[in-house]
Amino acid sequence: MREAGRVVARILAGTREAAEPGLPVAELDAVAGRILKENGATSPFLHYKPSWAPVPYPANICVSVNDVVVHGIPGNQVLKDGDLVSVDCGATLGGYCGDAAVSFFVGTGDEAGQRLLDVTRTALERAIAAAVPGNRMGDIANAVERTARKAGYGIMQGCGGHGIGTQMHEDPPVPNVGRAGKGMPLREGLTIAIEPMLHEGGSDEARTLADGWSIATADGSRAAHFEHSIAITADGPLVLTAL
Ligand code: MF3
Ligand code: CO
Repeated sequence: MREAGRVVARILAGTREAAEPGLPVAELDAVAGRILKENGATSPFLHYKPSWAPVPYPANICVSVNDVVVHGIPGNQVLKDGDLVSVDCGATLGGYCGDAAVSFFVGTGDEAGQRLLDVTRTALERAIAAAVPGNRMGDIANAVERTARKAGYGIMQGCGGHGIGTQMHEDPPVPNVGRAGKGMPLREGLTIAIEPMLHEGGSDEARTLADGWSIATADGSRAAHFEHSIAITADGPLVLTAL
């Protein structure tokens, strides 16, 4: 999983490097495809078809721009200066999966958006810090919820992290909302993807776009998304999707 995670980290670095005003989003998907191939890995997103999805996922990565929270399909859309972009990507290598996401500005950002990026990254860091043996799932969830609410941000309903291993999505669910000290005990060897998705607006309602995949904020406010796959070990959380 560490090797698969390293490929994910390379794709996130490569796509971020490539993202600039004027670039069609499909080009980022091509960058991801090239890095996957170079590393002998495949995308667990491509052709993925959960029961709720009308069609199999058609791309290597998700690119979600501004009010799109997650599952944005790379297409003809051209990146603009100031767009707040989330790139979510997975890799399968040697039978194991990695899954991670980062959000960033294309070109120049604004102060409000930067704060959303900083708080969402902090939510992920705190949630990872809570992923230790002896804690419970609610400690992870509550770390995200507390960080988001304190900053006045919304948390998208029905979205969250998941177990990960030979499959991209495994049990247990890893919620972004919950009570500290409650839920499943965290044990050494559990591997999970933690993924706070926060947005600027007050409404936590989601709206699915016409493509059947893209999930946007109902209030049109911008969202940020950071994700890492991690392993719970006796020595603390091990981030699998780092370089
Ligand atoms: N990274 C997403 C998640 O964490 C998965 C994307 S769904 C896909 O759940 F279909 F695009 F693969
Ligand atoms: Co995920």
